Amino acid sequence: MPSVLILGATSAIARAIAAEFARHRSELILAARDAEELTALAADLNLRYGVKTQAQCLDVLDPAAVETSLPACLAAAGETLTGVVLCVGTMGDEEAARANQAEAERILNTNFTGCVLALNVVANHFEKRKRGFICALSSVAGDRGRQSNYLYGSAKAGLSAYLQGLRNRLFRSGVRVITIKPGFVDTSMTFGRPGLFLLASPEAIARGVYKAINSGKDVVYLPWFWRWIMLVIRLVPEGIFKRLRL
Ligand SMILES: NC(=O)c1ccc[n+]([C@@H]2O[C@H](COP(=O)([O-])OP(=O)(O)OC[C@H]3O[C@@H](n4cnc5c(N)ncnc54)[C@H](OP(=O)(O)O)[C@@H]3O)[C@@H](O)[C@H]2O)c1
Repeated sequence: MPSVLILGATSAIARAIAAEFARHRSELILAARDAEELTALAADLNLRYGVKTQAQCLDVLDPAAVETSLPACLAAAGETLTGVVLCVGTMGDEEAARANQAEAERILNTNFTGCVLALNVVANHFEKRKRGFICALSSVAGDRGRQSNYLYGSAKAGLSAYLQGLRNRLFRSGVRVITIKPGFVDTSMTFGRPGLFLLASPEAIARGVYKAINSGKDVVYLPWFWRWIMLVIRLVPEGIFKRLRL
């Protein structure tokens, strides 16, 4: 049976993605920081779908874990590992981060540096094997900086650029790199935040992620209409954009 490693597996979107893969008969390796939550999730998916599941503790901000546990986890998955889905992220407290450098650093490191360092390890693994896929959740927030979330947005913009370069590097090795750019999704990350519209369910995003991985697409907006919304937003001249309260 094929298997998939999910990084940031306790996220609401990742849980739905894991269920989608399990429904399609993939074994799962679930990684995040919360061991108790991971164990419960792995047991639940195993019971519901009858697929083998494993839980693996991993903090992407711990360089030693990324350099030792992650390669060990990839190696242990063996030949059945078909790909990795990265769902790690945090919205953080953007307002607090204006004055609190530690919070600013946490937002930038979780959404960019930690993800990139983990994906470097994953990329080397699949490049050697000359097959596999790497799918990462970036965000429409990376398409244009807005006053309400430009730390998160700039980290996601960096992640999208990294994925673009990685796709270019791994193309000749037969490894696919898929960038997912969700709009607003109904999860704890967005709960209670003002100004949300067209909220998608984690399950709808999961179906889109599964479809994107199995199609030949490189960059996928989810739901699809965000591609056009972001096109319009990117076209607004800076002189007008800076006057808007977004
Ligand atoms: N919700 C939205 O509207 C939306 C929109 C666009 C993009 N996205 C992106 O989609 C992804 C999932 O979002 P979500 O709303 O489902 O998020 P979420 O529920 O807040 O989950 C975030 C995940 O990241 C993991 N994580 C955080 N810091 C970590 C670290 N240092 N090391 C390892 N794992 C870490 C968390 O696991 P533990 O805390 O258990 O370690 C959790 O699994 C994120 O990348 C997010 O940026 C979300």
